[in-house]
Parts: sequence; structure tokens; C-alpha cells
Amino acid sequence: MKRIITGVVTLLILCACAHERSGERLNVLPQPRQIERNNGSFTVDNVTGLYIDALESDKNSITGLFKAAGFSFVPASEDRGNNCIAMSICKDIEGIASPEGYTIDATAEKIDVKAISGAGLYYAAQTLLQLADGNGTIPACRIKDEPAFAYRGLMLDVSRHFFGKEFVKKQIDAIARFKMNRLHLHLTDAAGWRIEIKKYPRLTEFAAWRKPAIWKDWWFGSREYVEEGTEGAYGGYYTQDDIREIVAYAAERYITIIPEIEMPAHSEEVLTAYPELSCTHELYKQADFCIGNEKTYEFLENVLTEVMELFPSEYIHIGGDEAGKASWPHCPLCQKRMKEEGLDDVNELQSYLIQRIEKFVNSKGRQIIGWDEILDGGLAPNATVMSWRGTEGGIAATESGHKAIMTPGGYCYLDSYQDAPHTQPMAFGPYMPLEKVYSYNPTDGLKEEQAKLIYGVQGNLWVEYIPTEELVEYMIYPRILAISEIGWSNPATRNYGEFRQRAVKSVEWLKANGYNAFDLAGEFGQRKEALTQSEHMAKGKSVTYSAYAPFNDRYKAGGEVALVDGIHGGWTYLDEKWQGFIKGGVDVTIDLGEEKDINTVSADFMQMCIPDVWFPAKVTISLSSDSVMFKDIATIEHNVVRDEGLSFKNYGWSGKEKGRYVRYRAECGPQRGWLFTDEIIVK
Ligand code: ACM
Repeated sequence: MKRIITGVVTLLILCACAHERSGERLNVLPQPRQIERNNGSFTVDNVTGLYIDALESDKNSITGLFKAAGFSFVPASEDRGNNCIAMSICKDIEGIASPEGYTIDATAEKIDVKAISGAGLYYAAQTLLQLADGNGTIPACRIKDEPAFAYRGLMLDVSRHFFGKEFVKKQIDAIARFKMNRLHLHLTDAAGWRIEIKKYPRLTEFAAWRKPAIWKDWWFGSREYVEEGTEGAYGGYYTQDDIREIVAYAAERYITIIPEIEMPAHSEEVLTAYPELSCTHELYKQADFCIGNEKTYEFLENVLTEVMELFPSEYIHIGGDEAGKASWPHCPLCQKRMKEEGLDDVNELQSYLIQRIEKFVNSKGRQIIGWDEILDGGLAPNATVMSWRGTEGGIAATESGHKAIMTPGGYCYLDSYQDAPHTQPMAFGPYMPLEKVYSYNPTDGLKEEQAKLIYGVQGNLWVEYIPTEELVEYMIYPRILAISEIGWSNPATRNYGEFRQRAVKSVEWLKANGYNAFDLAGEFGQRKEALTQSEHMAKGKSVTYSAYAPFNDRYKAGGEVALVDGIHGGWTYLDEKWQGFIKGGVDVTIDLGEEKDINTVSADFMQMCIPDVWFPAKVTISLSSDSVMFKDIATIEHNVVRDEGLSFKNYGWSGKEKGRYVRYRAECGPQRGWLFTDEIIVK
């Protein structure tokens, strides 16, 4: 009763002074759903009380969080009224549907927090800590908040390079601050098996270790494993006790660990430790399990049994991506399986394995998640799809009534460059700055029924090129903050400029707390050519592509006019401003409309060898007045060699000539592959 009366009085006071500074965004990330800023502030002092009406475990999580942030309150056994933070669980809160939602009513005298669950109280505490900004002064405000999506995740690959449990716990602390609630651990892959399985000791005695510590030295070198304890061996794994510790640590922070056990592919390490599980039994040659062999199911079910005993999560990730499927057509056991089960092709064979594993996992009361390839050959009846090759897989899953977690590579793959590549450590993927991540909306274009099946969003960090803990943090932060806000906040109120200011503040917090975050405030930014349009004689003129060298439809940029539209590409060929040509090179002729004095003809190309994008080996520039007889005015040759990272090169001519038709030809070097150019400038 006392609480109700106090509440009414507080409300009246609030009404009198509300909106004085409404509209001002408070420094909270992710942005809460509703904030009303009022006059005054609450100051935590050394007699401020903390009253938590919740389960003991929730109390421990919340007091632990405040304590870790340097706040030690006087524990209160009841709501003291003034100079108190009073947190309590309520069954229903008007206007809040999610169990993770909460309300905060902060006045100069008192802070009232209500939530439907312990998680909600914990998120309210995270909000208060962000508002307090380290100094204990919390602006008077009313907040009503809940997440947009139930699943807000980070995936960390611990196979390509291994990161120990203390490091994982440190990341759990950071993502919890931003109200993320899933950490997906990619525990198994060719580069090393990372979880102790009692029944299969060779997985960690042998398949978790290699000589070269750096993944690319190993992958492009021997690709061999060594025995644990071998001098100079690199690798490691989580013992079952480590896993229990990580899972418990995460649970205290309302984070569920999702384990991923890869199948049927990405399994070279298993198939070298236990070669009888591959089609050919050859060591080091096989990446895919034999789907015809019953021993495969015995192994996978035994492994999953131990995994499910360790991880209480409802969802178990079973991989499913990028199977080469090369041995299956020649394997008598796989062929027999296909015949017996009436499977038409290798996609259906893969689907057979996934469906059988799903049945097993479901029989233990759990659900499977798989990368979007699990759609191929028929989706398992209860599976959730993790969409990574774009958004199509996730959308297709929702069309057939399945849940989807969106992690499209173009927005959510954090192993890509977050700033101008020449300012950054080498990365795997193209330019994907914070702004690009933030621009993603998982339900864009979906019908309401489909949108409801979008379970959430996740940022993925693959670590092929990320060998150290410092670099892992550098790539995760601050881009995971954009994923956090996409997963939590209202898309209608998102504004990148305003978000960036809060992200800069969060980077300050991350750095002050020992995280090696990318220096967002010092961001170099977009390629300068891409920031403005260029004016030149060929702009808007007609372009003819030679029949043997059309632009590729996947990378058509502006289509027929892309090379004369004045628009330049940025740091990535995926920005729909670079036009791509495969194999045939470039051969275009621009008609200037009439004979002109010409002093410059030039075009930029980019090179990024990992995705097979190369500089031309030869460019020839020719002029004609009648489009029949062409005179070569320049030949530019370049010795194309593989290098790391991303580079740009201008292939141009300057001089004094006349002509109406300008022909620009670019030829591939011995590597063949892709050529990308953005504009042919004629002046
Ligand atoms: C993936 O990136 N292969 C899921």
C-alpha cells in the first residue's frame, strides 16, 4: 500500500515537471524504447539503499553487477522510500510484452525499477549504470523499455585461433552491458576441436593442436595436427569444468551459451582423429562425415549427449554450412543410404543427416539451429535457420513457418574491415563500417507473419585472420553495439549520427575497462572519391560493352551507365558502385557524341586477392572519330602479384588528342578472376 501511495505522489510530481527537456537523448546503448527526461537527478551516496525483491540468484547477479562497477549500496530489506533504488518483479507491467522488459522511474529522491523477470531487473541495472556514467548521478527520468528481438547474439570462432575461458568471460561482461543475451561458440572446425568430450579423447589430445600458431600459416601450409604436449604445439580446448564455469558465468549475466558442433562438413580435425568416420578413411583429406556409415551417428549422438549435459541452452547449433559433398557420390555407403532412403541427390543426403540429428536433439527436449545450407535438400521440421549467405535463407525459413536468426554476411560479419583498409590490420571481409552494420533491419520487407518468426540478430566473428585477443576485441567493439541496438531498439527511431555519439561514449567505457576497442572517434572513413560525384566529358554519354566482356549481373552497379555516371566506388566492391567483370576483362566504348579535344582518360581498379579480385595486367586506351578505325593512344602494363589486403590503382593516360569514341580495354593477368572498376573519366 505504501508503495502505491508513494507512486501516486511521485507521479503527480513527475507530471508537474515532465517534458522540460524531453527529446534529449540520454546516453544509453541500446537506445531504450521510451525515455522521458525530467528535471533534477538522483545521486548515489554512501548511504543509498538497494532493495531487490526477486529470487536470490537475481539479487546476486544485480548486486554483483553494481559492485563490479564500483557501487556498494546499503542493502535494504524493504523499500525505504527515499535515497533508495528499489527493484521488484511484477507479473504484469502495462505496455511491456517481453519478459526482458523493465521500467525505471528515477526522481531526485528515489529510483523505482520494475520488471517481469530477473533479466529485466538486470537490464534496468545496466541502464542505470550507463546513466550514472561512473559518477553515481542518474538523471531524473522515466524509462519503459523492452527488446525488439528475443535473440541478440555474438558468435565467436574459437577454432581457427583458440581463446581461453577468462577471455570469454571478459567478453560476456561487455556484451551483457549492451543487453545481448546469447554467446554462440563455434567450438569445432578444421583448425582445432575445442571442447573436451570424454568418450572421444583424441579430439582434444590430438585434433586440438597444431604447429603453426597463425591460422593462415597452418592452412596454407601443412594443415597437420600434433599430439598435445608436442614442443611448440599451438591450440587448446575447454575442459568440461571450463565449460561449466563459462556457462554459469554467462547465466549470471542472463546470457545463454549456444554451442556449435559442426556437421557434416568443416570436420577435417575429427576425420583425422577418427578416420573411420569419413567416406575414404584418408587422413587429412576429408572434411565431410560419411553419411552412409552408422558410426557417424553413433559419434555425433555421443558427442551431442555430452554437449547437452554441459550446455542447458534450448538451442544446439549443428553447423551445416559449406559441405563440399565431393566423396558422397563415390562412397558405397552413402550411395546405399541414398537408395534405401529414396534420396535424389547429395543435398537430400545432407538433409537426411540433419533431420536425423534433429530427431535425436529433439528427443532430449532441445532444438537445432543450422547455417542456412540446412535448407538445401529439405529443412528439418523444427529447425531454426541462421541466415548468413545474405538474408534469403532466413526469409525462406520464415516463409515455411520456421524461425530465423539473421546474420547476413554483408552486415553482421565482424571479420571485415571496419575502416579504410590501409589504416587497419588485415581483415577477411570487405569494408563494413559501424554505419553499415547499423543500417541493417532484420525485418525489412517482411510480412507481419514472417517478421514474427525472426528470432533475432547476431554478429559473427570468424578468426582466420585474427590470432590475438587484442584483435578479437578490436573487431568486435564497437560494431557489436550496432547489433545490440538492432536487436533491442525501435527501428523507427534509429538515427546513425545520434547512435554514433553514444557508441563513441561506449568505446570510451570499453577502453577504460580494458577492452581494445577500435577508436571510433578517430575513424578515417569512406574512400574520398566515393564522397562526391565527378564531372567529366563522358558523364551521361552512351557506353557499348563488347559482347565477350559484359559486366557481371551480380556486380552490375548502375548497369549500362555505371562507368559514366560520375559515381565512384568506396572501399568495397560490394557497395553497388563498382562494376565487376569476370574472365573476359573490360572492353567498353564510350560515344562522346561529337569529336572533342581529349587530355585524360583514366579509371580506377581495386585488388583484393582473398575474394579473387585483381588488378588488370594490361590496359589499352584507343580513340576513334568514326567507331571503325581506332588508334591506340596508351598501353599500360602491370605485373599483377598476389598481396594481402586491399589496394587501388589508377590506369590512365594524359596527353593531347582528338576523338569522339573512347575505347577502354582492361585485360586480366594470369590469375584470371575478377576485375572491378567504377568510372571511366574522360577530360
Ligand atoms: C559461414 O560463414 N560459413 C557460416
